[in-house]
Amino acid sequence: MNDALHAMLAKSPEEIFALLPPGRVGEADRRYLDEVLDAGFRNTIDPANIFSRMESAFAERFGVRYAVLHNSGTGTMQSCLLAAGVGPGDEVIVPPLTAVATAVVVVQCGAVPVFADIDPDTFNINPADIARKITPHTRAIIPVSLYGLAPDYDGIMRLAAEHGLTVVEDNAECFLGEYKGRMVGAIGHAASFSFQASKHMTSAGDGGVVITDDDDYARNIRKRSCLGYRTLGAKPGDVFVPRDVRQDIDFERHDVMGYNFRMSAVQAALALAQLERLEALVAARVHIAKRYEQVLGEENCDWLIPPVVPADSLHTYWTWVCKLDEEKAGVDWRTFRKMFLANGGDGLYSAWRPVHLEPVFRDLAFYGRPDQAPNHDPRYQGTVKSYQAGDCPTCETLQRRLCQFKTSMQTLDAVATQVNALRATIREISRR
Ligand SMILES: Cc1ncc(COP(=O)(O)O)c(C=O)c1O
Repeated sequence: MNDALHAMLAKSPEEIFALLPPGRVGEADRRYLDEVLDAGFRNTIDPANIFSRMESAFAERFGVRYAVLHNSGTGTMQSCLLAAGVGPGDEVIVPPLTAVATAVVVVQCGAVPVFADIDPDTFNINPADIARKITPHTRAIIPVSLYGLAPDYDGIMRLAAEHGLTVVEDNAECFLGEYKGRMVGAIGHAASFSFQASKHMTSAGDGGVVITDDDDYARNIRKRSCLGYRTLGAKPGDVFVPRDVRQDIDFERHDVMGYNFRMSAVQAALALAQLERLEALVAARVHIAKRYEQVLGEENCDWLIPPVVPADSLHTYWTWVCKLDEEKAGVDWRTFRKMFLANGGDGLYSAWRPVHLEPVFRDLAFYGRPDQAPNHDPRYQGTVKSYQAGDCPTCETLQRRLCQFKTSMQTLDAVATQVNALRATIREISRR
């Protein structure tokens, strides 16, 4: 549990929103950026010590030992899979209702994504379907805390322990969330976060971080994110190699394959500033979600159905998402969206298409021809040879009903506009 977040949640909306600087750029952002610029840019070292400071602060916030900065919340997951030894012939279980990144990283490791269906009430991956999808080829699970709510981690971790699987939490949309009193991010073997522009905190538009408590895993993740440099440690600067050794003609640098997923110092400076006000950033989104929910209660609306949030979970509302019961409402999804926009609503999104039905998966078009897909690699002995409608029926039905309302507003006036648009739309539909 993060006491500072609970203290923030207890504050008034006025107090919380007063902590959000205009344009998401505050005094600390400029100060840390200046520190980095003043220190200048030099090769290989961290003159402003900004990477260490950001990594230590992030890890500490989650009560784990290591954080490894990346340049996206996609690269993060790929480093985690590579460091876990995932490769051709392996399967990795992912949900179908997520950003495509969660499944693409599996393909980029040469492994086969296997989609486990979701729970119709929480919209999150369902451990019962994970259990059905586990085979002798399964190496890892990537559960997603969709829209800011943790999935059923007890069920997931039990299956992982039984089958010896690595669990990489995809928390791109969930910062400081809680599951049964534990911080989301400190449950799996490693956890990935995204700092892409729409997320709770950002680092100049893109960025990401992995956290883990495992020393070996942290070191390996760092190496995989940094071209496989042999001398990298779990923490930046952990391993000191004297200059004479480093510069020698026989110095061997690389002992595993890795990508370049490094973050820049400028991004790390901004991320550190945002991290310092993360509690306020999360509390603002929780407040906005509560305001929308209040409208449902006040207007007796029983046809917009938010996810079931278990009593001991804290949802952090990257967006506020409801299921539209089209029959009860008497309007279909597209009409509802049009009415919401006409009432002053801003950008009501659908949920992403189920990932297995996106053309790149449906047509096995990863590398051009389907026979080049990991599913048809001779080293793969499993049965997932294609993806089609019907693979995840709960997700396929639900996705067409979900409405994502924004929770990224930075002022209480902007919040009121969206909440009023929802109220007006509900009233208009009730009068029909
Ligand atoms: C659930 C989920 N996973 C992964 C990602 C990928 O993160 P990034 O855009 O930082 O690569 C995102 C968002 O973009 C996401 O929402």
